[in-house]
Amino acid sequence: QPRPYVIDEMISAKSIAARIEELCREIQKEFADTDKLVVVGLLRGSFVFIADLVRELDLPIEVDFLEASSYGDGMESTREVRILKDLRGGIEGRDVLLVEDIVDTGHTLFHVTGMLRAREPARLKTVALLDKPTRREVDLRADHTGFVIPDEFVVGYGIDFAQRNRNLPYIGKVRFTDEA
Ligand code: PRP
Ligand code: MN
Ligand code: MG
Repeated sequence: QPRPYVIDEMISAKSIAARIEELCREIQKEFADTDKLVVVGLLRGSFVFIADLVRELDLPIEVDFLEASSYGDGMESTREVRILKDLRGGIEGRDVLLVEDIVDTGHTLFHVTGMLRAREPARLKTVALLDKPTRREVDLRADHTGFVIPDEFVVGYGIDFAQRNRNLPYIGKVRFTDEA
């Protein structure tokens, strides 16, 4: 029997949209001289964020995807990052922006950036919508961060709890209703 929970809104769809506009101005400045930026979405969590981000980004881009998983259906990182789908294109000598929904323990971002860096892109930068620094186990941060959040289990805007709630248009936090 799964524990009953409700979802409380934490970051509204409007605030997310406003922050994405700011992030895009930062990223445009950083890659102003690029002739082609490969924007890489880390599936599955980043699918909503990358869709909104690229439509706000005024740069010549290509889009590619990579799928990694470390949580499965649990609330705890397994610390074992499995690559389930690789990029379709090569990135050697290219400018790459890796798009992540959340940096929590940091294991996923650490593992994936290490793997991509080994392919020798010209530049590799990262953007994460959310950063939860209190749970960090690997000392790293995204180059661009949307919101720094407290230690809450968040869902929505692409992020799941046991694969559910990815379709919420806002970021919410899970609150179990069987505890005081
Ligand atoms: C989640 C989230 C990040 C990662 C962050 O992915 O989307 O990719 O965990 O956690 P970490 O910093 O502790 O590694 P998950 O493994 O749940 O796969 P999903 O994106 O398919 O949901
Ligand atoms: Mn993910
Ligand atoms: Mg997940």
